[in-house]
Amino acid sequence: MEYLNPVPGQKFIDCTLGGGGYSKAILDKISDNGKVLAIDMDNLAIENAKLNFKTEIENKRLILVQDNFKNLSEIIKENFDAGTKFNGIVFDLGLSSAQLQDRSRGFSFQSVEAPLNMAFNQDATISANIIINKYSEDKLIKIFKDYGEEKNARQVASEIIKARKESPIETVGQLLLIINKVIKRHGASKIHPATKIFQALRIAVNDELENLKQVLPQALELLIDGGSIIIVSFHSLEDRIVKQFFKNESRDCICSPICPACRCNHKARLKILTSKVIKPTDEEISTNPRARSARLRVAQFRN
Ligand SMILES: C[S@@+](CC[C@H](N)C(=O)[O-])C[C@H]1O[C@@H](n2cnc3c(N)ncnc32)[C@H](O)[C@@H]1O
Repeated sequence: MEYLNPVPGQKFIDCTLGGGGYSKAILDKISDNGKVLAIDMDNLAIENAKLNFKTEIENKRLILVQDNFKNLSEIIKENFDAGTKFNGIVFDLGLSSAQLQDRSRGFSFQSVEAPLNMAFNQDATISANIIINKYSEDKLIKIFKDYGEEKNARQVASEIIKARKESPIETVGQLLLIINKVIKRHGASKIHPATKIFQALRIAVNDELENLKQVLPQALELLIDGGSIIIVSFHSLEDRIVKQFFKNESRDCICSPICPACRCNHKARLKILTSKVIKPTDEEISTNPRARSARLRVAQFRN
C-alpha cells in the first residue's frame, strides 16, 4: 500500500482478486469517485466478492471480471472507455488461502482424498489428473524439472508410469504415496517432500508462467505516467520473469552487448523502485507463515 499510495478518485486494477484483501485495502483509500477493476479466473473468488462487496459493486466502484489476466487488454476494452489509464496495477500471484483449503481442488497435501484437479478455473479442460495419467514420461520429467526444479524428477516420473500401469492415480493421497517412495523428508525440515512436484503440477495445469509473461507488457500500456506495477510472487520462477521484465523495460537499449551500435531503438518505460526484492520480515512470517516465500517487486511507469 505504501508503494501504491492510493488517493481518492484514482483507478486501480487488482489482477488477482482472491479473497479480496488487496481490493478492499485500495477501495478504502480511493473514496466514492475511485474505481477498482478486480479479476480472477476462479468463479468462487468472484462469487464471494459479490457477497462481500455488495455496496461497492452497486456504486460501480468495484468491477468484477472472471477471466484469465493474460486477456487484460481485452478485459479493459470491454469494461472501460478507450484510452482509460490506471494509477496502479497489482498482482498477488499463485493460489489463495481459500483455494488451498478447498478440499475438492487437490492443492493441499492435507486433503488426501481430494481429486487431482489443481485448476484455478472451474471450467478448465486440463487437470493434474490428466497430466499424471496421460502425459508421457519425458513430458512429466520436463514439467517436474522446469516448473519444480525437482532434482528427483526422473525417478518420480518413472514411479508414476509404473503405478499408473496398475491403476489410474486419482487422488492426492495416491500421488503422495508415489512421491514419498522417491523423495524422503530431510531431518526436521518443515518442507513437505512433495512440495516441488505439487508446485510443478499447479504451474503446468494453470500455465502460470506463460500467463505472467503475456500480461506484463499489456499492463504497461494501461498505466498513467508515474503509475505503479506491483507484483508479489511466491517462487523463483515467477520472480525471475518479473525481475527480467523490469530490467529490460528500465533500459534504453536491449541489444546484445556484442552489438557495436544500438539497433533495437528500445526506450526505457519503467523505473525500478525496489532495487532489491522485498521479503517479509520475521515478524510477518510468524503471524502469517504462508507469506514466507513472498517476494515483492515494484516499478513505476515513465512515459
Ligand atoms: C494469492 S491469491 C490472491 C489473494 C488476494 N490478494 C487477497 O487479498 O485475498 C491469487 C489469486 O489469483 C488468481 N489467479 C491466479 N492466476 C490467475 C490468472 N492468470 N488470471 C486470473 N486470476 C488468476 C487465483 O485464482 C487466486 O484466487
